[in-house]
Parts: sequence; C-alpha cells; structure tokens
Amino acid sequence: MENKNIALVTGASKGIGLAITKRLIIEGFFVVMADIDENKEMRNHENTSFIKTNVAQEEDVKTLFNTIKARFKKLDLLVNNAGIVRDNLIGNMPLADFNLVLDINLKGVWMMCKEASELMKENNKGRIVNITSRAWLGNRGQTNYSASKAGVVGLTRALALELGKYNILVNAIAPGLIDTPLTQALRKDVLDKLIAAQPTKTMGLPDDIANAVAFLGSYQTQFITGQTLYVDGGKSIGSNM
Ligand SMILES: NC(=O)c1ccc[n+]([C@@H]2O[C@H](COP(=O)([O-])OP(=O)(O)OC[C@H]3O[C@@H](n4cnc5c(N)ncnc54)[C@H](O)[C@@H]3O)[C@@H](O)[C@H]2O)c1
Repeated sequence: MENKNIALVTGASKGIGLAITKRLIIEGFFVVMADIDENKEMRNHENTSFIKTNVAQEEDVKTLFNTIKARFKKLDLLVNNAGIVRDNLIGNMPLADFNLVLDINLKGVWMMCKEASELMKENNKGRIVNITSRAWLGNRGQTNYSASKAGVVGLTRALALELGKYNILVNAIAPGLIDTPLTQALRKDVLDKLIAAQPTKTMGLPDDIANAVAFLGSYQTQFITGQTLYVDGGKSIGSNM
C-alpha cells in the first residue's frame, strides 16, 4: 500500500460508486470507501478500507479525514459520488426533502472538498472528481435534486480556480440515465419512457462513469480543470423529437 495512490470514494458501496471503486483498484489505487452502508463483498479486499460515513454530517467527515491523515498522510484523488433523490412536484415536496437532498448532494460535497483540499495542498498534488447529473440542467419533479447538482457544477468551477496553482484539478461528471439501484427503483413505464427519450435508446452502465473517473482522476491529465463531462448517451444535447 505504501507506494499506491490513495483514492477516497463516497457512496462507494453500490451502484456507480462501487463500479468506480473497482475500476480505481485496477488503475492501481488503494480505495477508501466512505458510505453509510458497508459492501460485504469488498470487506476483505486488500486494496480497500471501509469507513462508515454520512457525508452530510460534519463530525463524520472530520473523523474520516483524521483517519486518512493518520493512516496515509495524503490523498491523491477524491471522488464525491454519494447522492440521493427525493422527487416530487414542488407543491407536494416537503421542505425536509429539499433540505435532505441539498445536505447530502451539495453540502456533503462542499465539506469533503474543504477537507480534501487542505490535505492535497500539503502535498501539492490532487484530483477531485464530483459526480453531478445531467439533471442539473433541469428535470420536472426534481427542484431539489436539480438545484443540488447545479450547485455541484458551480462549486466545481469555483474550486478549480482556487486550487489550480496547487496542482489540484477539479472536474465534474454529469451522468445521464445509468442502470443502478437508484434507477431500478423507478416504475417500469417511467423507465421505458426515459430510455425512449435517449438518443442512444439505451441506459448507461456504472462502468461508463467509472471509465470517465479513471481518466479525469488520473495524473495523465495536467490541463483539464473546472469542466463538466457529460456521460449521458447524448441526452444533454437537446430535443430529440
Ligand atoms: N443512476 C443514475 O442514473 C444517475 C444519473 C445521474 C447522476 N447520478 C448520481 O450518481 C451518484 C451515484 O448514484 P447511484 O445511481 O449509484 O446511486 P445508488 O443509490 O445506487 O448508490 C448511492 C450510494 O450512496 C450511498 N449514500 C447515500 N446517502 C449517503 C450519505 N449521506 N453518505 C454517504 N453515502 C451515502 C448509498 O448507501 C449507496 O451506496 C449520485 O450522486 C447520483 O446523483 C446517478
């Protein structure tokens, strides 16, 4: 582990985060998996370590980074992937669901970035990849989620300006419709309509996002920062009528 690059992935126990974790191990990283639930399959993997973390809780985030500092003294890559949805039209959306989505999807990302940037600055080296969503452009029934993900795009751009001089690059990935437990929970007729609206007529796979993270999170890139890369089968291009 001594010579390995260290990555921290939030929401790493399933879906896109799990695919990112597995891909980063192949890329030679040791991966700290931060999630509210542990993935049992990965428990004894020699290149992972699980730290139970609710990214919306300041105490949890501080404990997570104290552990990383004590054990590794560095962080080469942070992937902010943890995120939730609580969809409803605004008239039916309780304030609690707005607050919860903003707390996890935006405040959590900000707190993680704040801690990570201090550690990365000490080593004059770092990569941050924030998982936003194509939905930041606006989705009916997602005033909370779209706002949180738009916030992540803005945060990414502002932080790229602050950290560029420390050899820390900050980028975002905007997934479209990806086949994960989150989308598997959708009603079948809703899912069919969403797939039909895709230019590719397909859903993406978690590995499609993991591939993009492997690139933007690597040290092959020295000059890409503040960008949002869409991995969405072309859905963000516009009308497909
Ligand atoms: N699946 C899609 O179609 C899609 C599309 C666009 C963006 N995204 C984004 O990709 C990311 C991953 O989505 P997914 O589909 O894999 O979701 P998922 O629900 O399958 O997995 C999310 C993971 O995050 C963890 N998590 C939830 N709340 C947390 C918290 N407070 N602290 C720490 N961990 C927490 C969960 O335990 C789970 O392991 C999210 O940010 C999501 O918004 C997903």
